[in-house]
Amino acid sequence: MLHSRISGIGFHVPDRVVTNHDLEALMDTSDAWIVERTGIRQRHFVAGDVGSSDLGIEAARRALADAGRAARDVDFVIFATTTPDWMFPGNGVLVQQALGLDTVGALDVRNACSGFVYALSVADAFVRMGRYRCVLVIGAEVQSTGLDLSTDGRDMAVLFGDGAGAAVVEPTEAPRGILSWALHSEGALARELWCEAPSSRVPGRITTEMLEQRRQLPRMNGRQVFKNATTRFPEVIHEVLAAAGHTLEEVALIVPHQANQRIGDAVAQRLGVPPEKVFQNIERYGNTTAASIPIALTEARDQGRFRDGDLVVLAAFGAGFAWAGCAMRW
Ligand code: COA
Repeated sequence: MLHSRISGIGFHVPDRVVTNHDLEALMDTSDAWIVERTGIRQRHFVAGDVGSSDLGIEAARRALADAGRAARDVDFVIFATTTPDWMFPGNGVLVQQALGLDTVGALDVRNACSGFVYALSVADAFVRMGRYRCVLVIGAEVQSTGLDLSTDGRDMAVLFGDGAGAAVVEPTEAPRGILSWALHSEGALARELWCEAPSSRVPGRITTEMLEQRRQLPRMNGRQVFKNATTRFPEVIHEVLAAAGHTLEEVALIVPHQANQRIGDAVAQRLGVPPEKVFQNIERYGNTTAASIPIALTEARDQGRFRDGDLVVLAAFGAGFAWAGCAMRW
């Protein structure tokens, strides 16, 4: 039976490193508070007018090289981001142009922190139905330009970072490759983690009053996010494993969206797995939203945390709320 698999991965982060101490100079916070509550020590921020498409394009180049594929092999692009260069068109077409792809389709996904897993599920479906044979899946974000780097915005500002990751998805024969995935949402909680402007509800898309109130920047109810994340992550991990006919004991590594180290630790505890079975690199990148899973997956693979034939589970939770999981045999 036709399956799809990730045949190449790669990531790219901007050069500029911003430490917790750098943030201490901008707002009333401390390295100790940030490390204790989030596990984050540093993140990368873009400089100049670099957009999420630029980061995504570089990550895509690396994933293609890793897969041993050339740009001419790509027959579809899926770009997951909450921070596109423009309101429209989406970043996908910018990848098509920058990589010199044929006039292939380019789809944009906006499911925030779950965007990469949502995008991967679409790639899997297209490949399994025999429609495409080499799909480029990208997750990239520039969060830094949307953060209030003053004390007013400190709850969000210390969490997020910029970066990009990408995967090449190609056909394979079972039992390798993507075995199952699950996608969920709960819009009743949409306003617990959101960015309301610019908005099509507003004539002119944004008002001076909205700008003064900084409503064009993301806002979050951290406790509500934390509570839901620690429930939904284990739930969706169990769900995709059951759908794939496997158990937690068989899993080599869980690669969750990097939201907060305390969330990752709570997920390991609730699942009853040792902490080393849940990959975490948020310490060095912060939360890079749609980019965090492909960045983490690449680092985990490069560190030898899983090998060919191993069972790997991805899981994500974020704005929407939307959450998702995917089980694969690498
Ligand atoms: N530095 C110092 N103090 C800060 C701070 C910062 N960066 N951010 C908030 N605080 C303060 C608060 O103002 C509050 O002060 P008060 O008690 O005087 O009112 C205190 O710290 C506690 O705030 P609280 O929000 O209750 O802290 P918390 O333990 O819930 O931790 C988060 C806050 C954001 C770290 C935590 O809720 C979290 O990680 N939530 C999930 C966020 C997430 O993952 N988002 C992305 C989803 S994909």
